[in-house]
Amino acid sequence: MPGGTVMAEFPAYRARRLRRTDALRRLVQETRSAGVDDLVLPLFVIPGAGLERPVPSMPGVAQRSVDRIVEISRAARELGIAAVMLFGVPEIKNAKASAAHDDDGVIQRAVRAIRRAVPDLVVMTDVCCCEYTDHGHCGIVRNGEVENDATLAVLERIAVSHARAGADVVCPSDMMDGRVARIRGGLDEAGFAGVAILAYAAKYASAFYGPFRDAAESVPRFGDRRGYQMDPANVEEALREVALDIAEGADMIMVKPALAYLDVIRRVKDRFGYPVAAYNVSGEYAMVKAAAAQGWIDEARAVDELLTGIRRAGASVIVTYFALDVASRQGR
Ligand code: PBG
Repeated sequence: MPGGTVMAEFPAYRARRLRRTDALRRLVQETRSAGVDDLVLPLFVIPGAGLERPVPSMPGVAQRSVDRIVEISRAARELGIAAVMLFGVPEIKNAKASAAHDDDGVIQRAVRAIRRAVPDLVVMTDVCCCEYTDHGHCGIVRNGEVENDATLAVLERIAVSHARAGADVVCPSDMMDGRVARIRGGLDEAGFAGVAILAYAAKYASAFYGPFRDAAESVPRFGDRRGYQMDPANVEEALREVALDIAEGADMIMVKPALAYLDVIRRVKDRFGYPVAAYNVSGEYAMVKAAAAQGWIDEARAVDELLTGIRRAGASVIVTYFALDVASRQGR
Protein backbone atom coordinates (compact mmCIF):
# COMPACT_ATOMS: atom_id res chain seq x y z
CA MET A 1 0.00 0.00 0.00
CA PRO A 2 2.01 2.96 -1.18
CA GLY A 3 1.94 5.89 1.20
CA GLY A 4 0.11 3.78 3.76
CA THR A 5 -3.24 4.07 1.97
CA VAL A 6 -5.98 2.29 3.92
CA MET A 7 -7.74 -0.16 1.62
CA ALA A 8 -10.65 -0.95 3.90
CA GLU A 9 -12.65 1.55 5.90
CA PHE A 10 -13.90 1.55 9.46
CA PRO A 11 -15.41 -0.63 10.85
CA ALA A 12 -13.87 -3.23 8.50
CA TYR A 13 -10.49 -1.67 9.21
CA ARG A 14 -9.73 -1.24 12.90
CA ALA A 15 -6.14 -0.12 13.50
CA ARG A 16 -6.35 -1.10 17.17
CA ARG A 17 -6.69 -4.84 16.38
CA LEU A 18 -2.94 -5.09 15.83
CA ARG A 19 -2.13 -3.10 18.97
CA ARG A 20 -3.76 -5.47 21.45
CA THR A 21 -0.72 -7.35 22.80
CA ASP A 22 3.03 -6.93 22.98
CA ALA A 23 3.62 -9.89 20.70
CA LEU A 24 1.20 -8.55 18.10
CA ARG A 25 2.70 -5.08 18.26
CA ARG A 26 6.16 -6.49 17.82
CA LEU A 27 5.09 -8.69 14.94
CA VAL A 28 4.03 -5.67 12.88
CA GLN A 29 6.78 -3.34 14.05
CA GLU A 30 8.37 -1.60 11.06
CA THR A 31 11.57 -0.30 12.69
CA ARG A 32 13.42 -1.99 15.51
CA SER A 33 14.77 0.43 18.07
CA ALA A 34 18.52 1.00 17.80
CA GLY A 35 20.53 -2.10 18.68
CA VAL A 36 24.03 -2.01 20.09
CA ASP A 37 25.55 -2.74 16.72
CA ASP A 38 24.08 0.47 15.28
CA LEU A 39 25.73 2.64 17.91
CA VAL A 40 28.93 4.65 18.02
CA LEU A 41 30.16 5.93 21.38
CA PRO A 42 31.94 9.33 21.31
CA LEU A 43 34.88 9.67 23.72
CA PHE A 44 37.06 12.61 24.77
CA VAL A 45 40.77 11.92 25.21
CA ILE A 46 43.04 14.06 27.42
CA PRO A 47 46.77 13.82 28.21
CA GLY A 48 47.95 12.20 31.44
CA ALA A 49 47.17 8.94 33.23
CA GLY A 50 44.45 7.74 35.56
CA LEU A 51 42.27 10.74 34.76
CA GLU A 52 38.53 10.87 34.42
CA ARG A 53 37.09 14.40 34.49
CA PRO A 54 33.30 14.63 34.35
CA VAL A 55 31.81 17.15 31.91
CA PRO A 56 29.25 19.12 33.97
CA SER A 57 26.86 19.87 31.10
CA MET A 58 26.85 16.21 30.00
CA PRO A 59 26.03 13.99 33.01
CA GLY A 60 27.64 10.58 32.57
CA VAL A 61 30.26 11.85 30.08
CA ALA A 62 33.89 12.46 31.05
CA GLN A 63 37.21 13.44 29.55
CA ARG A 64 39.58 10.51 29.99
CA SER A 65 43.30 9.83 29.75
CA VAL A 66 44.40 7.10 27.33
CA ASP A 67 44.47 4.32 29.97
CA ARG A 68 40.87 5.10 30.95
CA ILE A 69 39.85 5.37 27.30
CA VAL A 70 41.07 1.82 26.82
CA GLU A 71 39.03 0.64 29.83
CA ILE A 72 35.80 2.21 28.65
CA SER A 73 36.38 1.04 25.07
CA ARG A 74 36.77 -2.52 26.32
CA ALA A 75 33.59 -2.22 28.40
CA ALA A 76 31.73 -0.81 25.38
CA ARG A 77 32.83 -3.68 23.17
CA GLU A 78 31.88 -6.24 25.81
CA LEU A 79 28.38 -4.75 25.77
CA GLY A 80 28.32 -5.17 21.98
CA ILE A 81 28.83 -1.54 20.91
CA ALA A 82 30.21 -1.46 17.38
CA ALA A 83 32.47 1.57 17.42
CA VAL A 84 33.97 4.47 19.30
CA MET A 85 34.60 7.95 17.90
CA LEU A 86 37.56 9.75 19.42
CA PHE A 87 37.92 13.48 20.05
CA GLY A 88 41.21 14.83 21.38
CA VAL A 89 41.78 17.59 23.89
CA PRO A 90 45.52 18.31 23.57
CA GLU A 91 47.92 19.88 26.03
CA ILE A 92 49.05 22.57 23.62
CA LYS A 93 46.85 24.49 21.23
CA ASN A 94 48.31 26.78 18.57
CA ALA A 95 47.40 28.62 15.37
CA LYS A 96 48.49 25.69 13.18
CA ALA A 97 46.71 22.93 15.16
CA SER A 98 50.00 21.03 15.03
CA ALA A 99 49.14 18.76 17.99
CA ALA A 100 46.41 17.27 15.79
CA HIS A 101 48.84 15.51 13.46
CA ASP A 102 51.54 14.68 16.01
CA ASP A 103 52.15 10.92 15.80
CA ASP A 104 52.54 11.01 19.57
CA GLY A 105 49.38 13.09 20.13
CA VAL A 106 46.54 12.04 22.42
CA ILE A 107 44.40 10.61 19.63
CA GLN A 108 47.24 8.73 17.98
CA ARG A 109 48.23 7.17 21.32
CA ALA A 110 44.62 6.32 22.15
CA VAL A 111 44.06 4.68 18.77
CA ARG A 112 47.17 2.51 19.12
CA ALA A 113 46.22 1.50 22.66
CA ILE A 114 42.63 0.58 21.73
CA ARG A 115 43.82 -1.35 18.66
CA ARG A 116 46.05 -3.47 20.90
CA ALA A 117 43.57 -3.99 23.74
CA VAL A 118 40.26 -4.27 21.86
CA PRO A 119 41.13 -5.37 18.32
CA ASP A 120 37.58 -5.99 17.12
CA LEU A 121 36.23 -2.56 18.05
CA VAL A 122 35.80 -0.16 15.10
CA VAL A 123 37.92 2.92 15.82
CA MET A 124 36.69 6.19 14.29
CA THR A 125 38.49 9.49 14.72
CA ASP A 126 37.28 13.07 14.42
CA VAL A 127 39.36 14.96 11.87
CA CYS A 128 39.13 18.66 12.62
CA CYS A 129 41.25 21.54 13.88
CA CYS A 130 38.93 23.17 16.42
CA GLU A 131 40.12 21.18 19.44
CA TYR A 132 43.73 22.00 18.52
CA THR A 133 43.68 25.67 17.52
CA ASP A 134 44.21 28.39 20.12
CA HIS A 135 41.32 30.38 18.59
CA GLY A 136 38.95 27.39 18.54
CA HIS A 137 38.04 27.57 14.84
CA CYS A 138 37.96 24.50 12.60
CA GLY A 139 40.79 25.63 10.35
CA ILE A 140 43.71 27.96 9.70
CA VAL A 141 42.75 31.59 10.30
CA ARG A 142 44.17 34.47 8.23
CA ASN A 143 42.93 38.04 8.54
CA GLY A 144 40.12 36.89 10.80
CA GLU A 145 38.83 34.30 8.30
CA VAL A 146 39.06 30.52 8.23
CA GLU A 147 41.08 29.82 5.08
CA ASN A 148 39.66 26.88 3.19
CA ASP A 149 42.58 25.79 1.05
CA ALA A 150 45.28 26.29 3.67
CA THR A 151 43.24 24.12 6.03
CA LEU A 152 43.06 21.20 3.57
CA ALA A 153 46.75 20.39 3.93
CA VAL A 154 46.40 20.22 7.73
CA LEU A 155 43.32 18.00 7.53
CA GLU A 156 45.15 15.63 5.19
CA ARG A 157 48.05 15.35 7.63
CA ILE A 158 45.66 14.71 10.54
CA ALA A 159 43.81 11.96 8.68
CA VAL A 160 47.02 10.23 7.58
CA SER A 161 48.44 10.28 11.09
CA HIS A 162 45.21 8.77 12.44
CA ALA A 163 45.41 6.05 9.79
CA ARG A 164 49.05 5.40 10.65
CA ALA A 165 48.02 4.90 14.29
CA GLY A 166 45.44 2.33 13.17
CA ALA A 167 42.11 4.14 12.76
CA ASP A 168 39.50 2.23 10.73
CA VAL A 169 37.43 5.28 9.80
CA VAL A 170 38.40 8.96 9.69
CA CYS A 171 35.62 11.51 10.10
CA PRO A 172 36.20 15.04 8.79
CA SER A 173 33.87 17.41 10.69
CA ASP A 174 35.38 20.73 9.64
CA MET A 175 33.10 21.57 6.68
CA MET A 176 35.88 22.89 4.45
CA ASP A 177 35.22 22.50 0.72
CA GLY A 178 37.18 19.78 -1.03
CA ARG A 179 38.48 18.05 2.07
CA VAL A 180 37.13 14.59 1.33
CA ALA A 181 39.02 14.42 -1.98
CA ARG A 182 42.16 15.77 -0.35
CA ILE A 183 41.97 13.27 2.52
CA ARG A 184 41.19 10.35 0.19
CA GLY A 185 44.18 11.26 -1.96
CA GLY A 186 46.45 11.57 1.06
CA LEU A 187 45.34 8.26 2.54
CA ASP A 188 45.77 6.38 -0.74
CA GLU A 189 49.18 7.86 -1.35
CA ALA A 190 50.32 6.91 2.15
CA GLY A 191 49.21 3.31 1.64
CA PHE A 192 45.88 3.50 3.51
CA ALA A 193 43.47 2.75 0.68
CA GLY A 194 41.49 0.55 3.09
CA VAL A 195 40.77 3.29 5.62
CA ALA A 196 37.20 4.56 5.24
CA ILE A 197 35.90 8.14 5.33
CA LEU A 198 32.74 9.04 7.22
CA ALA A 199 32.12 12.61 6.03
CA TYR A 200 30.13 15.10 8.06
CA ALA A 201 28.46 16.19 4.83
CA ALA A 202 25.48 18.01 6.26
CA LYS A 203 26.71 19.65 9.43
CA TYR A 204 24.60 22.56 10.57
CA ALA A 205 25.64 25.63 12.57
CA SER A 206 23.71 24.50 15.64
CA ALA A 207 22.97 25.72 19.15
CA PHE A 208 23.01 22.06 20.19
CA TYR A 209 26.84 21.79 20.17
CA GLY A 210 27.17 23.88 23.34
CA PRO A 211 27.99 21.12 25.84
CA PHE A 212 30.43 19.47 23.39
CA ARG A 213 32.46 22.66 23.25
CA ASP A 214 32.84 22.43 27.04
CA ALA A 215 33.92 18.80 26.73
CA ALA A 216 36.33 19.46 23.85
CA GLU A 217 37.36 22.89 25.11
CA SER A 218 36.71 24.26 21.62
CA VAL A 219 34.54 27.38 22.05
CA PRO A 220 35.61 29.83 19.29
CA ARG A 221 37.46 32.82 20.78
CA PHE A 222 35.90 35.16 18.22
CA GLY A 223 32.96 34.98 15.83
CA ASP A 224 31.06 31.76 15.20
CA ARG A 225 31.06 28.84 12.75
CA ARG A 226 28.38 30.11 10.37
CA GLY A 227 31.01 30.88 7.73
CA TYR A 228 31.55 27.15 7.20
CA GLN A 229 28.76 25.17 8.88
CA MET A 230 25.32 25.05 7.23
CA ASP A 231 22.24 27.19 7.74
CA PRO A 232 19.58 25.12 9.60
CA ALA A 233 17.00 26.31 7.06
CA ASN A 234 18.59 24.50 4.09
CA VAL A 235 18.02 20.99 2.83
CA GLU A 236 18.64 21.33 -0.93
CA GLU A 237 22.10 22.57 -0.01
CA ALA A 238 22.58 19.53 2.23
CA LEU A 239 21.89 17.30 -0.77
CA ARG A 240 24.54 19.17 -2.78
CA GLU A 241 27.04 18.77 0.08
CA VAL A 242 26.31 15.04 0.22
CA ALA A 243 26.61 14.64 -3.56
CA LEU A 244 29.99 16.37 -3.50
CA ASP A 245 31.32 14.30 -0.61
CA ILE A 246 30.23 11.07 -2.28
CA ALA A 247 31.83 12.16 -5.56
CA GLU A 248 35.02 12.95 -3.64
CA GLY A 249 35.15 9.48 -2.12
CA ALA A 250 33.15 9.43 1.13
CA ASP A 251 32.11 5.92 2.20
CA MET A 252 29.48 7.02 4.72
CA ILE A 253 27.59 10.27 5.14
CA MET A 254 26.82 12.10 8.36
CA VAL A 255 23.88 14.35 9.15
CA LYS A 256 24.37 16.41 12.29
CA PRO A 257 22.61 17.22 14.58
CA ALA A 258 19.95 14.48 14.35
CA LEU A 259 16.69 15.47 15.98
CA ALA A 260 15.89 18.75 14.24
CA TYR A 261 17.11 17.27 10.93
CA LEU A 262 15.20 14.00 10.52
CA ASP A 263 13.87 15.21 7.15
CA VAL A 264 17.46 15.72 5.97
CA ILE A 265 18.36 12.16 7.00
CA ARG A 266 15.36 10.79 5.09
CA ARG A 267 16.08 12.75 1.92
CA VAL A 268 19.77 11.83 1.95
CA LYS A 269 18.90 8.15 2.43
CA ASP A 270 16.28 8.15 -0.34
CA ARG A 271 18.39 10.09 -2.82
CA PHE A 272 21.78 8.40 -2.40
CA GLY A 273 21.21 5.02 -0.73
CA TYR A 274 24.59 5.37 1.01
CA PRO A 275 25.03 4.38 4.66
CA VAL A 276 23.79 7.39 6.62
CA ALA A 277 25.07 8.20 10.07
CA ALA A 278 23.29 10.62 12.37
CA TYR A 279 24.99 12.45 15.22
CA ASN A 280 22.72 12.70 18.26
CA VAL A 281 24.70 15.65 19.59
CA SER A 282 25.66 16.93 23.01
CA GLY A 283 22.81 19.44 23.38
CA GLU A 284 20.26 16.77 22.50
CA TYR A 285 21.81 14.53 25.14
CA ALA A 286 21.90 17.30 27.75
CA MET A 287 18.22 18.17 27.23
CA VAL A 288 17.10 14.61 27.91
CA LYS A 289 19.42 14.21 30.91
CA ALA A 290 18.28 17.52 32.40
CA ALA A 291 14.57 16.77 32.04
CA ALA A 292 15.04 13.26 33.41
CA ALA A 293 17.00 14.58 36.40
CA GLN A 294 13.98 16.77 37.21
CA GLY A 295 11.72 13.73 36.98
CA TRP A 296 9.89 15.32 34.05
CA ILE A 297 10.36 12.47 31.56
CA ASP A 298 11.12 8.74 31.69
CA GLU A 299 14.70 8.75 30.40
CA ALA A 300 14.92 5.18 29.13
CA ARG A 301 11.67 5.44 27.17
CA ALA A 302 12.53 8.88 25.82
CA VAL A 303 15.94 7.72 24.61
CA ASP A 304 14.48 4.64 22.98
CA GLU A 305 11.87 6.76 21.20
CA LEU A 306 14.42 9.29 19.95
CA LEU A 307 16.83 6.65 18.66
CA THR A 308 13.97 4.76 16.99
CA GLY A 309 12.95 8.02 15.31
CA ILE A 310 16.47 8.56 14.01
CA ARG A 311 16.53 5.03 12.60
CA ARG A 312 13.05 5.37 11.12
CA ALA A 313 14.23 8.52 9.35
CA GLY A 314 16.86 6.41 7.57
CA ALA A 315 20.05 6.41 9.64
CA SER A 316 21.80 3.07 9.98
CA VAL A 317 24.57 4.40 12.23
CA ILE A 318 23.88 6.54 15.30
CA VAL A 319 26.61 8.40 17.10
CA THR A 320 25.27 8.96 20.60
CA TYR A 321 26.43 9.64 24.15
CA PHE A 322 23.56 7.33 25.20
CA ALA A 323 25.33 4.32 23.64
CA LEU A 324 26.53 2.86 26.95
CA ASP A 325 23.18 3.44 28.68
CA VAL A 326 21.31 1.73 25.84
CA ALA A 327 23.79 -1.14 25.68
CA SER A 328 23.64 -1.84 29.41
CA ARG A 329 19.84 -1.84 29.34
CA GLN A 330 19.79 -4.22 26.36
CA GLY A 331 22.35 -6.49 27.99
CA ARG A 332 20.12 -7.08 31.01
C1 PBG B 1 34.13 19.71 15.78
C2 PBG B 1 32.92 19.01 16.22
C3 PBG B 1 31.83 19.53 16.93
C4 PBG B 1 31.02 18.46 17.25
C5 PBG B 1 31.60 17.33 16.71
N1 PBG B 1 32.76 17.68 16.04
C6 PBG B 1 31.58 20.87 17.46
C7 PBG B 1 31.45 22.05 16.66
O1 PBG B 1 31.31 22.05 15.44
O2 PBG B 1 31.52 23.09 17.33
C8 PBG B 1 29.77 18.53 18.08
C9 PBG B 1 29.32 17.26 18.69
C10 PBG B 1 28.31 17.41 19.77
O3 PBG B 1 27.73 18.49 20.02
O4 PBG B 1 28.04 16.39 20.42
N2 PBG B 1 34.24 20.14 14.53
